[in-house]
Amino acid sequence: MTQNRGLELVDRDEQGVDRAFREDVLEGLSETQKATPARWLYDDAGSELFEDITQVEEYYPTRCETEILRARGAEFASAVGPGRAVVEFGSGSSVKTPLLLEAIDPAAYVPLDIAGDFLRAAAEDLGRKFPDLPIYPVEADFMRRVELPAEVADMPKLGFFPGSTIGNMVPRTAVDLLRTMRATLGEGSMLLIGMDLIKKRKLLEAAYDDAAGVTASFNLNMARRINRELGGTIPVEKLHHEARWNDDFARVEMHLVADEDIAFEVAGRSFTMAKGETIHTENSHKFSRRSSNALLLAGGWTPVGRWLDGKDRFSVVLAEATVPRNAP
Ligand code: AVJ
Repeated sequence: MTQNRGLELVDRDEQGVDRAFREDVLEGLSETQKATPARWLYDDAGSELFEDITQVEEYYPTRCETEILRARGAEFASAVGPGRAVVEFGSGSSVKTPLLLEAIDPAAYVPLDIAGDFLRAAAEDLGRKFPDLPIYPVEADFMRRVELPAEVADMPKLGFFPGSTIGNMVPRTAVDLLRTMRATLGEGSMLLIGMDLIKKRKLLEAAYDDAAGVTASFNLNMARRINRELGGTIPVEKLHHEARWNDDFARVEMHLVADEDIAFEVAGRSFTMAKGETIHTENSHKFSRRSSNALLLAGGWTPVGRWLDGKDRFSVVLAEATVPRNAP
């Protein structure tokens, strides 16, 4: 059975189980280092918990990026010029997107998202705030090249990818996405992208392990979701959340750590975890000025502007699709 939520085609078996989720989980739990792809953190419960995370004191990225977008709009405007079609990768937030659109005098707004319901809700919201701005929502997986609406074909594009979502990808995948964005947006396009910065370990780990335990619930929801949707028997109360700074790879990792030896089943298969063994559930890469520039250049984008918040915690980088393959 295929359930159609807009273009979001979820392939379900006879029992209604999301096949891709089951395959990813069974494969990931069979590895020596157990791991589950981070995208499965965002079911309805997980998406709500992430919204709560953005409100906790220790989680600085959302506040810092919003501060930059609010304070530096005039500089974005002079750097990108008027008349661009803003193409947002993801549905857009009710706070960040209007700040950009207000600042730069765009000719159109094109939100791209795989979840049709979120996409339409976000587009309607924006439409009320910007009645004169043409809005063309596109239901699509932006990890692949997207055919943009004919109406914006002749406009110069500005890609917008806030939130440091690029940091959730390992560099290989991040470069693939940057190149795909370049293909989607075309020659002469620009990209405004949020990239979180490397800071002291304590600050980073606290941001991913808040005192109120919201991030812990967000992480543990992965195990709960496996139990709910895949007939799992993971003893969630014997797992705890851990945020770990991996200095070699410059990333905060989220893990679910076993408090004692445990055994459980998922979708009819048996698994064990020894005390202290973990399931790795998410990476959040952090960047320096040079590492962010290197990543963008590898993806075909030349950085041309960079803005930080008042505490130098987060960066918003502007780049141009102008990198030649054979520069000296
Ligand atoms: C919105 C996906 C970028 O990595 O900072 C927050 C997700 N995970 N706390 C991030 C997240 C744990 C967040 N992203």
